[in-house]
Amino acid sequence: DGQPDIGDNAINRPLDRVRVDDTARELTTDQGVPVADNQNSLKAGLRGPTLMEDFILREKITHFDHERIPERVVHARGSAAHGYFESYEDLRAITRAAPFAAKGKRTPVFVRFSTVAGERGSADTVRDVRGFAVKFYTDDGNWDLVGNNMPVFFIQDVMKFPDLIHSVKPEPHNGMPQAASAHDTFWDFASLSPEIAHMLMWHTSDRAIPRSYRTMQGFGVHTFRLVNASGEWVFCKFHWTPLAGTYSLVWDEAARLTGADPDFHRRDLWEAIDSGQFPEWELGLQIFTEEQAAQFPFDVLDPTKIVPEEMVALRTVGKLVLDRNPDNFFAETEQVAFCAAHVVPGIDFTNDPLLQGRIHSYIDTQISRLGGANFHEIPINTPVAQIHNNQRDGIHRQQINRGRVSYEPNSLAGGCPFQAGVRGFVSVPEPSQGNEVRGKPELFADHYSQARLFWISQSMTEQRHIIGAFRFELTRVQTPAIRRRTLALLANIDSGLAGAVADGLGMEVPPPLPPATDRPAYDYPPSPAL
Ligand code: HEM
Repeated sequence: DGQPDIGDNAINRPLDRVRVDDTARELTTDQGVPVADNQNSLKAGLRGPTLMEDFILREKITHFDHERIPERVVHARGSAAHGYFESYEDLRAITRAAPFAAKGKRTPVFVRFSTVAGERGSADTVRDVRGFAVKFYTDDGNWDLVGNNMPVFFIQDVMKFPDLIHSVKPEPHNGMPQAASAHDTFWDFASLSPEIAHMLMWHTSDRAIPRSYRTMQGFGVHTFRLVNASGEWVFCKFHWTPLAGTYSLVWDEAARLTGADPDFHRRDLWEAIDSGQFPEWELGLQIFTEEQAAQFPFDVLDPTKIVPEEMVALRTVGKLVLDRNPDNFFAETEQVAFCAAHVVPGIDFTNDPLLQGRIHSYIDTQISRLGGANFHEIPINTPVAQIHNNQRDGIHRQQINRGRVSYEPNSLAGGCPFQAGVRGFVSVPEPSQGNEVRGKPELFADHYSQARLFWISQSMTEQRHIIGAFRFELTRVQTPAIRRRTLALLANIDSGLAGAVADGLGMEVPPPLPPATDRPAYDYPPSPAL
């Protein structure tokens, strides 16, 4: 039928319903009416006014007027591709998650990489975190592993997320700066938020200017749970490692590319896939028990902490391959809706207070970004697994549910779905206790031990790059008190680092901040894995 050959990937079946090839077809309106003249509007005489009656013109212009949707509130700029995940082993003893059910099993995926702060039209190579979001179209519904290219985050509690993002985004009065993090508001927030220390080290390191999406690691960040069919569970951290190696740009290259080719990463990903050089990552799991977690010198619910690989080794369990570019950027890359709440039987959340907030935030924002409650019916978001429930109506509903019954319990004959029971998603039953409080466990307050671990694990060249990045960013901060506070924060991490940055700014290092906890700092040995 003239359609390109797109392989037998399972996600192609639902998407095939909506793929259109317009080649050599008669032009029609949205109602399917053939259009005689697509060049001239209908006028009262050749030099006369254009007529209201011209429904063809009005449909064309009206559609155009509404072509834009709001960009994502964060991660607005991104690029995506189709592919598959292949499990290296049968992991059913550990998790009943469908992608790991058999050695060699393939699950279709759609993966979107992104920057965080920049607007939709901003440059790819700015200093920023990169999103690494994977939608697995599993037999048991969609599982989204919505991760980043850094294993920790800026804050520990969802309550601070709007503040963090307001500090990172262009300043509200003048809309500047559009992409780079170098501005007073971000460093103001950062220097007043000691929990940011570990993430700041990643953010000023080479990891924040990746060479390519193909050469970035990805991390689930939070501690999750893997649950088997008997309900037994373990904690888990997810790591993606590129088989091509992890590479970064140096700052001068990044700065130049930002001007010379703002699409640098987007183009690289597209061209690699187009030429058959399919990017590949391996999935590594860090699996540990609740008893082990209780012995760690940090809290596994704290998203500003890693589990060092020296404490829990990575177990490589599968491979991600991206082998097909999208057909249409808007329909797929722009309309895809990843959501931290999308888990499947075999994967469960933990009480990480950042993760708990993310469970709410994504679907909420997508209701306005994608217009109403039915965006799961947009083809790229539709699971390969079938959807049967009593949800009805709402703007742009596509599904035509038959029968008179859309409630439970019911006694009338009708096509009502039944509960899946133990085959369905069952939350890990966790005893919950304590008074309602706002606050944090004391271990969350050790903000510097792992920031120092990152610093001492870097090579001298990498350390020089970090010093250079702090100097570059802080020289652009106008307010001296913000610079001083940032140096005080660095003094808590490493006096050599603080001294080198202060030298570049022509400043003295202020005394370190008072620690947020009386517990002594934990002395991690340097980690080759960083
Ligand atoms: C996108 C909220 C933390 C990774 C988004 C979006 C929102 C959001 C509202 C836009 C979604 C859309 O319009 O489709 C939050 C909140 C967070 C948080 C409230 C903290 C409480 C994180 C963390 C990570 C992360 C810790 C990484 C582990 C991503 C990614 C995207 C995204 C990768 C882009 C997904 C895509 O490609 O479409 N986030 N986020 N976020 N977030 Fe978060």
